[in-house]
Amino acid sequence: MISKEIIEEIKARADILDVVSDYVNLKKAGSNFRGFSPFNNEKTPSFFVVPSKGFFKDFSSGKAGDSISFLMEMEGMSYMEAIRQLGQKYGITIEEEEPTEEELLAKNERDSLYIVMKFAAQWYQDHLWKQEEGQAIGLTYFHERGFSDETIRAFDLGYSPDLWDGLIQEAKAKSYNVELLEKAGLVVRKDEAKVYDRFRGRVMFPIHSLTGRVIAFGARMLSKPSAPGFDQPKYINSPETDIYHKSHVLYGIYQAKQAIRQEDNAFLVEGYTDVISMYQAGIQNVVASSGTSLTHEQIKLISRYTKNITVLFDGDAAGIKASVRGIDMILEGGLNVKAVVLPEGEDPDSYARKLGGTAFTKYVKEHQQDFIRFKIALFQGEAQQDPIKKAGIIRDIVTSISKIPDPIQRQVYLKESGDLLNMDESILLTELNKIHLQQHRSAQKKTAFEETYAAEEEEEVFSEYEPAEEPSKGKIYYREKEITRLLLLYGQLEVEENFKVFHYIFKELEDLTIQTDIYQQIHQLYRQKSEAGQAVTEATLAEAGIPEITQEVIDLVVEHYVLSDNWELKYNIYVPRETSILHQVIERSILELKFAYLEKLIQENRQKLLEAADTESQMKVLEAHHVLKNSQMEIARYLGIVVS
Ligand code: CTP
Ligand code: MN
Repeated sequence: MISKEIIEEIKARADILDVVSDYVNLKKAGSNFRGFSPFNNEKTPSFFVVPSKGFFKDFSSGKAGDSISFLMEMEGMSYMEAIRQLGQKYGITIEEEEPTEEELLAKNERDSLYIVMKFAAQWYQDHLWKQEEGQAIGLTYFHERGFSDETIRAFDLGYSPDLWDGLIQEAKAKSYNVELLEKAGLVVRKDEAKVYDRFRGRVMFPIHSLTGRVIAFGARMLSKPSAPGFDQPKYINSPETDIYHKSHVLYGIYQAKQAIRQEDNAFLVEGYTDVISMYQAGIQNVVASSGTSLTHEQIKLISRYTKNITVLFDGDAAGIKASVRGIDMILEGGLNVKAVVLPEGEDPDSYARKLGGTAFTKYVKEHQQDFIRFKIALFQGEAQQDPIKKAGIIRDIVTSISKIPDPIQRQVYLKESGDLLNMDESILLTELNKIHLQQHRSAQKKTAFEETYAAEEEEEVFSEYEPAEEPSKGKIYYREKEITRLLLLYGQLEVEENFKVFHYIFKELEDLTIQTDIYQQIHQLYRQKSEAGQAVTEATLAEAGIPEITQEVIDLVVEHYVLSDNWELKYNIYVPRETSILHQVIERSILELKFAYLEKLIQENRQKLLEAADTESQMKVLEAHHVLKNSQMEIARYLGIVVS
């Protein structure tokens, strides 16, 4: 636990320019600074730092934030880790506050697990490098597989001697208690009295956390034939522990994260040895799901560093069909996915060793396919002539497309599928809509309110083919976004004495409810803080420490600082300052928002008309319709819009 005061001090001292400059070469651009995005490979610099606000904004990836979130993104750190790192950078001594007993216990327990894992990893490494058995068996094995000493060290590989209690004895000598070894999954308990080492006579692959701490082991048996009647598994892995959650971890992420960001791509493979051989061949942006099927958490982990994943498949069809589900999950996560099938009989490990990095990379470039081509090729031959199988492929591909969150991208892929399958796009679209409708139905919406929404969404699905500006987000969203932006930028300006812009906005919106969750939250927070007498700025809101709010707030305001500055500088275009016509801008924005609300109410009312059972209730609905319509017309006149 770090005290709030110290966190405040660190935040105050952390200079965004200084922090970012450790990673990005920045050049002055007006009152801001500009450089190449550290998150993407780009040709024109689109990464900005706004020192006056303490924020950065990266237009290529959309990422934005303060110095803490910058470090979190760059280093894959947690919030607290970033704070500690900044504390170190600025020489602020962090005195950890007394934690509660419970916190202490939990933290102590996890800390001791990390410590004991570190001890074990070191012991396995000592055996590999320094003990006869390890050298003769383990090191020789790695060398025979083609791993260099440098590579073996980069992955902290080790060897567990063939003893029942080697680790246990060493731990006892160093006063680690056996219970801790058990909690760390390093030993197995047979009964009350008897424990033994989990890993014996195997080469050890430590699994690292993002920050490089050992959290688990994979232990491979050696290729010597096992004793008759004694069928040992090829790998024995650590069980789940308080510090190891298998589904959240990717093997190699610690060694790969920097390269993944630089290459803006991650290779996904299956095994430990695949990762290591590719890494040694110079392809370092590679991680493995370690033999299990891919999880959403793992995809999320990758998406912190890149939005592009290339999945490498071994060259046998059976294995491929078993793991294509991962592709849909990647699409669902909003990431781009490519697939590469290796030649028959090769896996990434063997093939990277055979070809070396340059030729391997060339192979990948020449053979990578988007998921549509990949799926078509997968069923090729099988299906060309058979209409039922062809229908199966179509369904399969369209199902994948339906997972993609971005409607525009969905359309692009739909078009490509049509071309490749030599089919009319409208047939594919019908198929896609069917899938979407099924999904909606199965979501089972109950209340009347939810039903209205479901109806709207269904409409949206059908109109998918010609999307409006962004069909997933309606007018109301954009209007709310705009008024929130104005609130953030100009809220503290005075309209007249003791009456500021935010007073005006809140007064106008008094009887209305903001529909979009994040804007609702921002307005509420703004209101709370103002009522507590604070002059609210972006920083005040960011201080609340709610990451979604901070991100949104920065997104809303930074563009303004960066763009207006940049346009004037670069194109000599004078951007009329909103401030000079602020009154009109805000008034108009409020009216447009009200207009959008009314439109929605009118639509909802129409729906009621359809459902009205008798004349009396129909009359009521009609009356309401007139009232709403009149208000809308009135606003429309102000805005100069014609309504039907
Ligand atoms: N795996 C496992 N338990 C097994 C077999 C496999 O946990 N009994 C996991 C391991 O993470 C392994 C991955 O699945 O790395 C891929 O399996 P495989 O290709 O069989 O292993 P490799 O590591 O490639 O081993 P090798 O090339 O040495 O056979
Ligand atoms: Mn292998």
